[in-house]
Amino acid sequence: MCGIVGYVGSRKVSDLLLEGLFRLEYRGYDSAGIAVHDGGAISLRKRAGRVQELARLVDEQPVEGGVGIGHTRWATHGSVTDANSHPHVGGNGEVVLVHNGVIENHDTLRDHLQSRGYVFQTETDTEVVAHLVAHHLDERVKLGDDPGETETYVRAVEITLTELKGTYGVVALFRDLPETIVTARLGSPLVVGVGEEEYFVASDASPLVGYTDRVHYLSDHELVVLTPEKMDVRHRDNGRVRPSLQTLDQVADDTDLGEFEHYMLKEIFEQPKALENAIRGRLDEDAATARLGGLNMTPRQLRRIDRIVLTACGTSWHAGLVGEYVIEEFARIPVEVEYASELRYRNSPLSENTMTFAITQSGETADTLAAMRELQRKGHPALAICNVVGSTIAREADGGVYLRAGSEIGVASTKAFTSQVMILNLLALHLGRTRHLSFPSGERFMRRLRELPEKVEQALACHEQVKEVAARYHAFDNYLYLGRLYNFPVALEGALKLKEISYVHAEGYPAAEMKHGPIALVDERTPSVFVIPKGGIQPKVMSNLEEVKARGGPVIAIACEGDERVAEIADETIFVPYVEEHLQPIVTSIPLQLLAYHVALLRGCNVDRPRNLAKSVTVE
Ligand code: M6R
Repeated sequence: MCGIVGYVGSRKVSDLLLEGLFRLEYRGYDSAGIAVHDGGAISLRKRAGRVQELARLVDEQPVEGGVGIGHTRWATHGSVTDANSHPHVGGNGEVVLVHNGVIENHDTLRDHLQSRGYVFQTETDTEVVAHLVAHHLDERVKLGDDPGETETYVRAVEITLTELKGTYGVVALFRDLPETIVTARLGSPLVVGVGEEEYFVASDASPLVGYTDRVHYLSDHELVVLTPEKMDVRHRDNGRVRPSLQTLDQVADDTDLGEFEHYMLKEIFEQPKALENAIRGRLDEDAATARLGGLNMTPRQLRRIDRIVLTACGTSWHAGLVGEYVIEEFARIPVEVEYASELRYRNSPLSENTMTFAITQSGETADTLAAMRELQRKGHPALAICNVVGSTIAREADGGVYLRAGSEIGVASTKAFTSQVMILNLLALHLGRTRHLSFPSGERFMRRLRELPEKVEQALACHEQVKEVAARYHAFDNYLYLGRLYNFPVALEGALKLKEISYVHAEGYPAAEMKHGPIALVDERTPSVFVIPKGGIQPKVMSNLEEVKARGGPVIAIACEGDERVAEIADETIFVPYVEEHLQPIVTSIPLQLLAYHVALLRGCNVDRPRNLAKSVTVE
């Protein structure tokens, strides 16, 4: 988590840093701060709260200068206070730095530094890094290094990095080296933007968009020294290396809310368009299959696949569960869906012909990235289903498919989920057609995909009705979400949406499993949300619904239009259009997204920036 931005050049650095922090706020919004070098001294401004708070502070107390660093924090070590906000100061102010990642041995290092007289002002692991750099700087100078030489500072940072255990993306400013910033990475992404006599550094490329499209992505163990004239890249093992410049393929984010009050609502309503984008140019009418060239695999290679592993976190993991069902049904390939945070440390046996996918909206989730790297380390090509172009996972994957959902800014994932399910359906079609899915079946599959954006448009018509249901139910503190087969992941996803933005406890369960424990929770204060569209399993889900009603539990049902049987029994019925079962998650998740949105609003929660969360989880 946490967003970092830095700049050397001649622009008004405080404006640039603030703009960068606004763009990076999705990575954390507990507090924010900047440090600016005016050629003589470093000025710090930092404040708990959103970047807007910091902007107000900078307005009241402006800072001048052309070199600076900034940070937006998602708290790991130390509570959310002004003091714990980055940047942090080392020694007597000779070093000021920002950090993303976790320093696992911070306790030991802190004890060591305190025994040497360093006084700590914060509870953070980052302050340890700042003091350690100051300490090594002091040592270097005592050993005779020139305090006016850049190399003295670089050496102090390099020695510090060898002593850290954990992950870091770090950017440092030095009081006595006014025109220079030093940045280094291990495990936390950093990108340098190259301008005309100016350089930028950031956690991702978003703060660079509009300023430069020439970038160098830092590799692990790289350290970069930036001055307005020069970028000097060094690798721990290889010494000085040439920057590998790439052209940034990113346009400014669509941050305009338009007619909507929140990004989440805007993104829910963008789903028909996102789904159209997901299939555009990817349906091959002549071969009745999906065109997924980014997989970088020949039909022969695809034919040999005997197992698929999908790995992801959160909502993307739920999409993976839908992927398991649809790929197994249509391509008949066994699929496993693994939490990335588990997979990265497990030693699961993988056959040579196992195909692996990381599923991620942001492309920056630390656990998903680590799981993908672990798979690659074991010699498996790892593919990605990803939304953000140029993200770390998109760059490091051996191939894959972009969602093309457009930027998702609300912390609660909505359009990314339905787009991921769409891509997994395309994958099932593609793999199925290399096996026993016939041409006519492929054509039928494609026809359903093409109809889907329109069906989602129709599903969105439930908005007003969901609003009314939310008004009646928002005060309840516990919910059950129940569904079966393709709608079991939808139940999990619906519960997650409610939890994360309204802070209401919700459990997602396979409807029939409820009898094995959760049914004990059912009472008149615990609504059950049943996802019960038409399909082979519906009579069974109906029995589960009756069981809840028999115990006095209120029922909100998501059912297909015209399904009067469900409407007669449930307390509330929200109708969506009928689609084939393998596509139902895309349609049935719509009312659940809207329900979470309205319950959160009515409970006075910050829908787009829920407490304790960040859009992109870049620490493990
Ligand atoms: O960017 P990713 O898809 O890798 O993110 C994974 C999860 O952190 C994410 O889906 C999270 O669960 C969302 N806040 C859910 O709405």
